[in-house]
Amino acid sequence: MPRAAQISPSILSADFARLADDLARIQGADWAHVDIMDNHFVPNLTIGLPVVQALLAASDLPVDCHLMIEDPDRWAPGYAEAGAGSVTFHIEAAAAPIRLARNLRAAGARAGMALKPATPVEPYLDILGEIDMLLVMTVEPGFGGQSFLDVVLPKLKRCSEAIRGRELDVWLQVDGGVSAETIERCAEAGADVFVAGSAVYGADDPARTIEALREQASKAMPA
Ligand code: DX5
Ligand code: ZN
Repeated sequence: MPRAAQISPSILSADFARLADDLARIQGADWAHVDIMDNHFVPNLTIGLPVVQALLAASDLPVDCHLMIEDPDRWAPGYAEAGAGSVTFHIEAAAAPIRLARNLRAAGARAGMALKPATPVEPYLDILGEIDMLLVMTVEPGFGGQSFLDVVLPKLKRCSEAIRGRELDVWLQVDGGVSAETIERCAEAGADVFVAGSAVYGADDPARTIEALREQASKAMPA
């Protein structure tokens, strides 16, 4: 059965002084993508668990946490326990990814695993059954508004083939530089969850942009 395209706008491009208002502007989205950065795994610092707890209390939109942090083994389960619907850790930072994914699922969240642009998927093919979502970064993590890296598309396709070949129910998320110009290439390569920060919050009408991106992606997704 073909999956529907899901749009997860990144609030990294929202107004941090008006987060509740900016969540309300993306109510038509499938998720709110929340970028957690610790200034160690990436050269930027954003928000942590207390703000995620406040977001969860302020909105019914499911929260998709993307943890760009060192030691996710220690910190990630807290986001799942707080009620985030999806919690994604970076494989480059995880000490025991299988145990971590199981802990996230046990705490009630979907478990996500992220790959930086130059991290190959091949060493991790055997653990895809332990996760609910694979996140393929199409920019170097750390900042919104960067240019999409086409060079990652062949890896995205290999990830999709690996998931389909194993008949796994694993979502394939793409994050970084996703816009009206790039979303079709991502969908054609097999992505089904699309993060977009600047493309949504930089638009005059974020709600309409979410609808347009979802329609563009759905049309381009292979049957
Ligand atoms: C980058 C973040 C992304 C980013 C996306 O490190 O993980 O979620 O905010 O922003 P855009 O869509 O502007 O590239
Ligand atoms: Zn992200």
